[in-house]
Order: sequence, then C-alpha cells, then structure tokens
Amino acid sequence: MHCRICETPIEPFISFGNMPIANGFLTPDAFAAEYFFELATGFCSTCGMVQLIDQPAREQMFNEQYHFFSGTSTLMARHFQEFAATVQSGHLQGPDPFVVEIGSNDGIMLQHFANAGIRHLGVEPSANVAAVAKAKGVNTVCSFFDDALAREIVAEYGQADAFIAANVMCHIPYFHSIIAGIKTLLKPSGVVMFEDPYLGDVIERTSYDQIYDEHVFLFSLKSISHAFEQHGFELVDIAPQETHGGSMRYILAYKGTRPVSDRLVRQRAKEETLGLHRAETFDLFRSNCERSRDALRAVLDRCSRDGKRVVGYGATSKSTTVINYCGITPDHLAFISDTTPIKQGKFSPGAHIPVRPYAEFAQQYPDYALLFAWNHSREIMAKEGSFLAAGGKWIVYVPEVKIMQGSSEASQ
Ligand code: SAH
Ligand code: TYD
Repeated sequence: MHCRICETPIEPFISFGNMPIANGFLTPDAFAAEYFFELATGFCSTCGMVQLIDQPAREQMFNEQYHFFSGTSTLMARHFQEFAATVQSGHLQGPDPFVVEIGSNDGIMLQHFANAGIRHLGVEPSANVAAVAKAKGVNTVCSFFDDALAREIVAEYGQADAFIAANVMCHIPYFHSIIAGIKTLLKPSGVVMFEDPYLGDVIERTSYDQIYDEHVFLFSLKSISHAFEQHGFELVDIAPQETHGGSMRYILAYKGTRPVSDRLVRQRAKEETLGLHRAETFDLFRSNCERSRDALRAVLDRCSRDGKRVVGYGATSKSTTVINYCGITPDHLAFISDTTPIKQGKFSPGAHIPVRPYAEFAQQYPDYALLFAWNHSREIMAKEGSFLAAGGKWIVYVPEVKIMQGSSEASQ
C-alpha cells in the first residue's frame, strides 16, 4: 500500500479488525448482507499523512440514505454560523462574491450565505441531506466534488472567492483531484478554508473513534502543507477548534499571496514536539487504544454482571469503531438513544444494537449512559442535569475510561 499523496510505502500501525460502514444503520432484513472491511491505519514517513489502508467505495458510504445530518447539534449550528461570518467579513471584499462549499450536507453553513444574498453553491453527493439544504433555499448540486466538477462549476458560475469545507476533505481519497479542482475553481486572490479532526488531538486524547471508513485521512499541518504545495498553494494560517473532539481549521492561498501567521509557525513546532510524524508515537497510540478498549470492556462487563441497565447516548459514526473494536453487544447496551429520526428504529452497524428515540432515554433513565457523542459533551451535560440528579452515571472513554456521577468523577 502506497501513500495516496506521495506514493511512499506506508507503515501500518493499528488494525481495529473487521468493521462495517460507520453510518450504515440498518434494519434486520439487511443483516445477512452487511458489508465489512478491515479497518486499519498507517502513516507515511515522507509526507506525514495518516491514512486508512483500505476504504470502501464512496457510494457505499455517501448515498440517498446517508444517516448524518449536520443540524442535530445546536452548538454545531452556532459553530457554522461563526465560520460563515468569518468568511463573509474577512474574505469576501470584492463585488458579487461567490462561495463554494463541498460536503455542505443539510446547508448548516451555506444557509447563512443564502440568507445574506451571497452567491453560493453547495456540492453534496448524499441526496437525502442535499434535499434538506435545497428546501432551505441553499443552492446545491448533488455530486461528488473533483476536478471535473470544478470545471463545470466554473463554466456555469465563474471562479470562486472562497472554497470552504468542514469534515469532508478528510473523507476523500482522490485528494490530488480535489486540490486540482480547487485550483480550477479559485480566483487568484481567493482563499481556501477547511477544518477536520486533527491528528494531534487524536493522538493526545486517544480518540481512536475518529478512525472509521469515512475518515480516509487524519491531517496535520505537515501533511496538508505537503499535499497543497504540490499544486502551488501555501498554508498561511490555522485555527484550532474544539469541535468533533479537537479539529484544525486550515487557511490556504496561492503561494506568495498572503503572509504566513506566527500561530502557524508555533503549531508546526508543536507538531515536532508531539512527535506527530514519528513511528514510536503511533506505537504508543496503539497501546493506548488497547488499554482504553480493555478498560471500557471491563466496565461494561461489570455492569452486565451486576445487572445494571446501560444505554448508549448518541448513535455516532465514531461509535461504530468503539462498539466493534471493544466487542460491545446488545447484552451490554439495552439500546442507543439518538435524536436523528432516520437512525431511530434501526440497528447499529455490526453489533446490531437497537437505536431508539431520545424520549425512551428520558422516560426511563438507565443506571449508566455510555457517552458515544462525547464530542458534544458540553451541550449534553448542560441539558442532562436531571439524569445525574436521579442517580444516573455517565461512562466516558475519551481521553480515558471514567465513570462520572453527580459532581464527582471516578477513574477506572
Ligand atoms: N460539512 C458538514 C457535513 C460533514 S459529513 C458538517 O461538518 O457537519 C461529510 C459530508 O461530505 C457528507 O454529507 C457527504 O455526503 C459529503 N461528501 C463526501 N464525499 C464528498 C465529495 N467528494 N464531494 C462533496 N461532498 C462529499
Ligand atoms: P456526531 O458526533 O456529530 O458525529 P459523527 O457521526 O461524526 O461521529 O454525531 C452526533 C450524534 O449524536 C447524532 O446522531 C445526533 C446524536 N445526538 C443526540 O442524540 N443527542 C444530542 O444531544 C446530540 C448533541 C447529538
């Protein structure tokens, strides 16, 4: 297996075993034909890109039955409003600007440009979420972005002032075609701004659940700089984000058109200190994952033995890795509570744990709730005070396995 960016042979460092499609929530009639692949990750010692060894075909993950709707978190809605405001106030000075977002999903970010009367286009291949965006008045094309599509967009709309994306660049294995497409699309004065889960946070927090089929890459400043430099772009600034358990926003422009920030220079040095591109860092990460897995299984096995009722909170894509890697079964979890209508009544990928509406969690609190949506814990803790007050306990596993009860925390 060779690096998708620079062709160097990649060095595998962890396998999570057989995995289903992370967002492939399913009904019992589909159990027998469920698709599995080996979820394994390696790193490139030349360009620093961390990547999956194999990734399922894109249509298997992104289609008219896509289960992730961006608008299910109010804090994420606020986050994307702020992202849109940053682009609008800082990067759209010319007359009649044009903004393109890929992976625009239900229009959570582009709706702010639509509402402000700014010319925009969303590129979103999953038809069900694209339909929600269109219904909100967000101009959306239902396609996969690549260089060929970029040419069609330029022919129809002209070049763009800003190319923006969130939690999608790291999904796309044909990365050179994406960057070539950005080059086709972007005006000479244009800006590229995107954010994705950050390798540094995944390593520091042992948040191995960021590794699943959709996330073919885990980016760092080094790997992003290297990939974009080959196409004449330069990383000029970064902005760390708390979203998705630790993300990085990358700001790029054509080489030499903008100053490089001090913040970027400092973060580059931090990556060296963290050893983000050294083999021993990934060896340590693997043993941290194994330790986390064993600790979580021990807690859940003990709950089962003691006859405790445990419910999962948030049927996240990330939870598919945790559930299947840790061997969590319907014997451990009564169900997983989730607010997304399309997930409710279905079963989790691989382990086939039922996904139930949130009301079933609230109507009869379990003894323990396993916080799969840990990246939304600020929002969730703010609204679930009565669960703790009723004696309920949270099981969390990032950055380490812990039980949280009332105002105290007990390490496991
Ligand atoms: N930006 C949103 C959605 C992220 S989920 C957010 O941050 O919440 C990733 C989205 O990217 C999905 O809706 C998926 O359908 C879309 N996607 C996947 N591959 C793509 C591609 N090649 N071009 C454009 N969108 C893509
Ligand atoms: P998220 O962590 O955003 O994404 P991913 O799928 O990328 O891992 O998914 C959050 C899931 O949790 C989503 O299915 C909605 C659900 N959810 C709840 O059930 N309750 C909540 O309060 C929140 C914030 C999310």
